[in-house]
Amino acid sequence: MGPLFLVVEGMDGAGKSTQIERLAGWLTRAASPPVVTREPGATAIGGRIREILLDPASAAMDPKTEALLYAADRAQHAAEVIRPALAAGRVVISDRYVDSSLAYQGLARGLGIERILDLSMWATGDLLPDLVILLDVAPELARGRSGATDRIELEGQAFHQRVADAYWALARTYPDRFAVVDASAPPDAIEGEIRRLVEARLEAGREVRNENRVHHGKGCGLPTGAGPQAPS
Ligand SMILES: Nc1ncnc2c1ncn2[C@@H]1O[C@H](COP(=O)(O)OP(=O)(O)O)[C@@H](O)[C@H]1O
Ligand SMILES: [Mg+2]
Repeated sequence: MGPLFLVVEGMDGAGKSTQIERLAGWLTRAASPPVVTREPGATAIGGRIREILLDPASAAMDPKTEALLYAADRAQHAAEVIRPALAAGRVVISDRYVDSSLAYQGLARGLGIERILDLSMWATGDLLPDLVILLDVAPELARGRSGATDRIELEGQAFHQRVADAYWALARTYPDRFAVVDASAPPDAIEGEIRRLVEARLEAGREVRNENRVHHGKGCGLPTGAGPQAPS
C-alpha cells in the first residue's frame, strides 16, 4: 500500500476517535492494518508529558511551557513511532499532530504560527503529514459531545472559538495538506467522505511510485511530504 502519513484534527468532541477507528477498520479490511497513534502521549515518555499537560492541576502553566511540552512529546512520537512506521511502508493515522500546536498554541494562545511551526519542524526533523483531515464542527456542538474534563477542554468558550477559527485559517493557509470535512454530519456520512479522501491519496501515491519506477528505476516518496526517511 505504501507509506502514507494521515492526521485527523479537530476540537475535542469533533469525532476524531470515532472516525479513526472506522478508517482503521476499513484500511485493515481493504489492504493492511494502519499504525494508529495520537498526540500527546503515544510513547512511554510522551505519556508522562501528557499527564503534565492535561492535568487540571497544571492550571498555572505558562503558554510557552505548554508549547515546549507538546513539541517534546512530538519529537519522541516522530522518532519512536511515526518515522519507523513510514520507513516500513505503513499507513500511519495520528489523532492530532503539528496543526494542533499551530491552532492551540500558535493562534489560540497567541504565540505565533511561525515560531510554533519552526519548533515542531525542529522537533520532528521536518516531518509533515501527507494529508490532514480536519473535522470541522461548531465549538458548542463539539463541547456538547465531549466530556470536557482535562485542562485544555476546561478552557472557556472564547478559547474554543479561537481554536475553531484557527483551524479554519490553517486549512486556508495550507490547502495542499488539509481536507475539511463537515463533522456535524452523521458518522456514516463522515466515514464515507474520509474514505474517498484517503483512497484518492493512496491512488496518488501509487501513481508517483509507478512513475518513479519507470523514470528513475526506484520508488521514492509521496507528492506532498513525508515519505520514508531514516530517523534523524
Ligand atoms: N458525527 C457524529 N455525530 C454525532 N455524535 C458523534 C459523531 N461523531 C462522534 N460522536 C460522538 O461524540 C462524542 C465524541 O466523539 P469522539 O470521536 O470521541 O471525538 P474526539 O475524539 O474528536 O474528541 C462520542 O460520544 C461520539 O460517540
Ligand atoms: Mg478522541
